[in-house]
Amino acid sequence: MINKNNILPREEVEAQKAYIARMRAENDAYLAEHGVRRKAFVLTFGCQQNEADSEKLSGLSEAMGYEIVGAPEDADLIVVNTCAIREHAEQKALSIVGQYKHLKAKNPDLIIAVCGCMVTQEHRKNDIKFRYPYVDFVFGTSSIHRFPQLLWDKREKGKRLYCPEEKEYLVAEGLPIRRESDYRAWVSVMYGCNNFCSYCIVPYVRGRERSREMAPIVAEVKELVARGYKDITLLGQNVNSYGKDSGYPYDFADLLSELDKIEGDYQLRFMTSHPKDADRKLIDVMADSKHIARHFHLPMQSGSDTILKAMNRHYDTERYLGIVDYMRKKMPDVTITSDIIVGFPGETEEDFEGTLAMLRRVEFDMLYSFIYSARKGTPAAEMEQVPREIQNARFDRLLALQGEIAKAKNQPLVGQKLRVLCDGVSKNNPNLYSGRTEGNKIVFFEGVPEDRGQFVDFVADRADAFALYGKKIAK
Ligand code: SAH
Ligand code: SF4
Ligand code: F3S
Repeated sequence: MINKNNILPREEVEAQKAYIARMRAENDAYLAEHGVRRKAFVLTFGCQQNEADSEKLSGLSEAMGYEIVGAPEDADLIVVNTCAIREHAEQKALSIVGQYKHLKAKNPDLIIAVCGCMVTQEHRKNDIKFRYPYVDFVFGTSSIHRFPQLLWDKREKGKRLYCPEEKEYLVAEGLPIRRESDYRAWVSVMYGCNNFCSYCIVPYVRGRERSREMAPIVAEVKELVARGYKDITLLGQNVNSYGKDSGYPYDFADLLSELDKIEGDYQLRFMTSHPKDADRKLIDVMADSKHIARHFHLPMQSGSDTILKAMNRHYDTERYLGIVDYMRKKMPDVTITSDIIVGFPGETEEDFEGTLAMLRRVEFDMLYSFIYSARKGTPAAEMEQVPREIQNARFDRLLALQGEIAKAKNQPLVGQKLRVLCDGVSKNNPNLYSGRTEGNKIVFFEGVPEDRGQFVDFVADRADAFALYGKKIAK
C-alpha cells in the first residue's frame, strides 16, 4: 500500500509560505529604508544530504528577502547546519558557534540559528541552550520546513526558541532551493535510515526512511537538465532502498531507468548504497544506461565478518564480493569506492588484516576511511573500545596500502581519452584547472575560463594515488 502519510500535507507547506511572505515584507521594508538588503550566511558541516538541506535553507532565506552572502561578518542572519557523525564534526561546529559570539556583540540585531543532525540530539540541544546563550533558535532535521515560522516567531516574540522534534519525519515538497553550483546538483530522493548500524548516529537524528514520489523527482531532474546541469547526484542515506518504505510500486532501479530516459548531455550519480540492498537489477540498469556514471560508492566498513556482524550490517564479505564481481562483469571499467571504519570496538589484529585483505582483493579506486568515533546512544559506544594508539596505527597502515592500490589503479588510465567535467581553477593548485572523470577521479590540466561547468576531453600523462595530470584535447 502506498503510504502517503510520508509526505508533509500541502497545507503545512502553504502555512510556511505565509510566513515567508511576512518575513519578505519586513525585509523589503528594511531595504526601502536602508538601501541594502539584510544578509544571510548559511554554514554547512557534514555530508551531501546536509549540503542539500542547506540549499533549501538558503532558498528559504532568499525567498524571505535576504541576500545570501559568503561570510558571517556581513550577515544579519547566520544558520549553522551541523553534523553528528563523528566527535570531530561536533567539536568543529561547536567551536564555530563559539566564535560567533563576538559578531553578536558587534551587531546586536544579528540572529543566529543552529540546526541539523548535531542539535537533533537532546544533549546537544541542551549544550547550546546552556553554553551558547547568544544562539537565538535551534531546530532539528525534522523541522527544516518550519524555518520561516521559527524565524518569524523569534523576531516577533524575541525569546530564544528550542524547536521540539516533530512526531514524524516527513517529506516536504515544494520548498525553494538555492543551488550552490550551476552545473552540479544534489537531488534528495529519500531521507532517513532504518538500518541502525551499531556505530551510527544517523537513524537517531534523521528519522525513519521515507521516499519522495517518482513524479516530482523526474520533474526536478528534467528541469535541471533543461537549465544546463551536467552532473546530478541522487541522494539518500540508503539510496538503493528507495521506495521500499513507502510501498511505491517502483524501486530505485525503476527510478534510475526512468530518469535515464531524460534527453540531454548530463550524467547521473547516486549515493549512498548499502550492500544489503544492492541488487543485480540495479547493476543491470546501470550497465544498460546512457546517463548513469559508471561509478559505484559501496561502503564496506570492514573486511571481517565478525566485525560486520557486530556492526549490524546484514552482509558478509562473500556477499560484498559477489556484488563487486557482478558489477565488474557487467561494467569492466566501473570505478568502485568505499567507506571503511578502522578500530571498531572489539576489532582484533586478525579482523583488521581481513580488511586489508579485502582492500587487496577488491582494489578500490578510492576510500573514505575513518577512525571509529563513539556516538552517545549507539550500541557500539557501550562495547569494549580499541585503544587510540592501536586505532591510529591501523589507520596509517590502511592509508599506506590504499595509496599503493589507488596509484596502481590509476596507471592504466594514463594515455586514455577521458571525458571530464571541469570545475574551473583548482583551489589547491591555482595554476591549473581541475575536473572529475565519470568515475569521479580528480584530474588537473591547463584550461580556460569557459571550460568551467563543461565536459572536456582529457588525456593524462601521469597519475598518482589521488589524481590524474594531463592535457585537454580538442573534441
Ligand atoms: N548512509 C551512508 C553514509 C553514512 S555516514 C552509508 O551507510 O554508507 C558516512 C560514513 O561515515 C559511513 O559509511 C561510515 O564509514 C562513517 N561513520 C559513520 N558513523 C561513524 C562513527 N561512529 N565513527 C566513524 N565513522 C563513522
Ligand atoms: Fe548509518 Fe548504517 Fe544508516 Fe548508513 S546505513 S546511515 S552507516 S545506520
Ligand atoms: Fe552528518 Fe547528519 Fe550527514 S550526522 S554525515 S550531516 S546525515
